[in-house]
Amino acid sequence: MKALVVYYSFEGNTEFIANAISEILNIPTIRIHPVKNLTSTGFSKYVWGGGQVVMGIKPKLEPIVIDFKEYDVIFLGSPIWAGTYAPPIKTLLEEGVFKNKKVYYFYTHEGGAQNAERRAESVISKFNEYVSARGFIDVLKNQNESRKKAQQWASECAQQIK
Ligand SMILES: Cc1cc2nc3c(=O)[nH]c(=O)nc-3n(C[C@H](O)[C@H](O)[C@H](O)COP(=O)(O)O)c2cc1C
Repeated sequence: MKALVVYYSFEGNTEFIANAISEILNIPTIRIHPVKNLTSTGFSKYVWGGGQVVMGIKPKLEPIVIDFKEYDVIFLGSPIWAGTYAPPIKTLLEEGVFKNKKVYYFYTHEGGAQNAERRAESVISKFNEYVSARGFIDVLKNQNESRKKAQQWASECAQQIK
């Protein structure tokens, strides 16, 4: 089975985990970019980004240059915004940009992600098979530990999908 890491990251935490998974499994990564990315900083980023989640906005994405048909398994990564996946991931999943993949979901957060897995499972299951999820807290503040945990999880997943 061929696997790929697909992720959105605004401030680098999710990207750090994506790269750790890519490194240990030797698989490619694709970072998705909304056409208009969040530009606010400080507190206003929470208002702007959180507002997008609450309003159910699906931002337009830059073209993704990969042929998803070549892959069976996707490690899908998102930061948690307002308790759930970030809006670019909503676009990706609700518009069925890829379908019929086994999806391992990973997310990064700062401690407020109680219902994150349930919500992700529901949207991933629209077009794909949700397999399992793993959350990573305060990633860039604990880089060695985060890398280790991510690579351990990815290796366990890889054992299942051989
Ligand atoms: C708009 C916005 C909303 C956020 N909401 C939450 C939240 O509800 N719960 C939480 O634990 N962290 C929240 N965070 C923090 C991020 O989830 C956390 O820093 C994450 O690791 C960022 O990933 P990134 O660096 O890949 O963008 C929020 C951050 C932003 C920018």
